[in-house]
Amino acid sequence: PDADAEAYFDAVIAADQKIEPRDAMPEAYRKTLIRQIAQHAHSEIIGMQPEGNWITRAPSLARKAILLAKVQDEAGHGLYLYAAAETLGADREDLYAQLLSGRQKYSSIFNYPTVTWADVGAIGWLVDGAAIVNQVPLCRCSYGPYARAMIRVCKEESFHQRQGFQSLYVLARGTEKQRAMAQDAIDRWWYPSLAMFGPPDADSKHTAQSMEWKIKRYSNDELRQKFVDMTVQQAEVLGLTLPDENLQWNEERGHYDYTQPDYDELMQVIKGDGPCNRQRMANRREAVESGTWVSEAAAAYAAKQDTRQEA
Ligand code: 3HC
Repeated sequence: PDADAEAYFDAVIAADQKIEPRDAMPEAYRKTLIRQIAQHAHSEIIGMQPEGNWITRAPSLARKAILLAKVQDEAGHGLYLYAAAETLGADREDLYAQLLSGRQKYSSIFNYPTVTWADVGAIGWLVDGAAIVNQVPLCRCSYGPYARAMIRVCKEESFHQRQGFQSLYVLARGTEKQRAMAQDAIDRWWYPSLAMFGPPDADSKHTAQSMEWKIKRYSNDELRQKFVDMTVQQAEVLGLTLPDENLQWNEERGHYDYTQPDYDELMQVIKGDGPCNRQRMANRREAVESGTWVSEAAAAYAAKQDTRQEA
């Protein structure tokens, strides 16, 4: 039976079909999916903090409503992704514990501070823009539940990216101070956004296997390049500049040449030495502790409902 199961798995992958929860799959395939999906989910949940920091200080009711909707969306994305990880046999409480213990990570990008209101626009435009470039190919990932979760996530990310772009567009056409604030935010978020795509392909330990299993459809460097090519033109429309004087259209490559982000910094941030790592984890720990009564009450209520139904 194992040989048949392996042949079945290989045939499904080769035919660009989907592996579903009840299908036989190599243990390493299951493990790397739990690893990636869990970290993706952790990123969505921790990612609520940098923006949440500005909900009470949004400059207008409209901006506050948009920001609230976006932060709520990120919580929903986390929920989808934890649920997708559970279809692989992962235990949600265990994933939470792995995040808090630091054994599982979340995206480096959320360890940078949001120091002005313009950061909310820069995050929407650059971070969610990068997320879209990374997540659209994941809609074609070989694992069914993950691919399907991405379809809904990508629709909501487009709104996140558009609202960020529009906010920066308004600031860039406001007072000199507002324009300077928008430019400062782009200067601070550009290189960390490039680093979001991961280490260079030569240093990426998972890319080869993930591409063979059609989890990853493009390499880290391919997606990073795609993001740069797309974003340069948008910056021109904004009338703001990207902080890289080597940014240059390369005719024979058909892409923009650009300066790479600092990968040593990326490794430092992933290791836990970024500007906000400790604060993000302390906030997460505090949220779990102060929110325990809510989950306990919900569980008690659900248990009571079950006994009522049995009676
Ligand atoms: N931040 C944190 N860790 C990172 C990282 C980053 N930016 N880039 C790479 N890593 C880690 C990897 O997780 C891996 O470590 P591990 O073995 O402990 O998991 C190691 O560095 C080597 O990197 P690889 O390139 O070999 O790893 P992957 O093949 O997993 O590629 C990835 C990294 C491209 C981030 C891939 O995991 C991925 O596509 N993940 C799903 C998408 C995701 O998580 N996006 C993060 C942002 S979430 C988001 O955008 C929300 C939106 O609302 C803003």
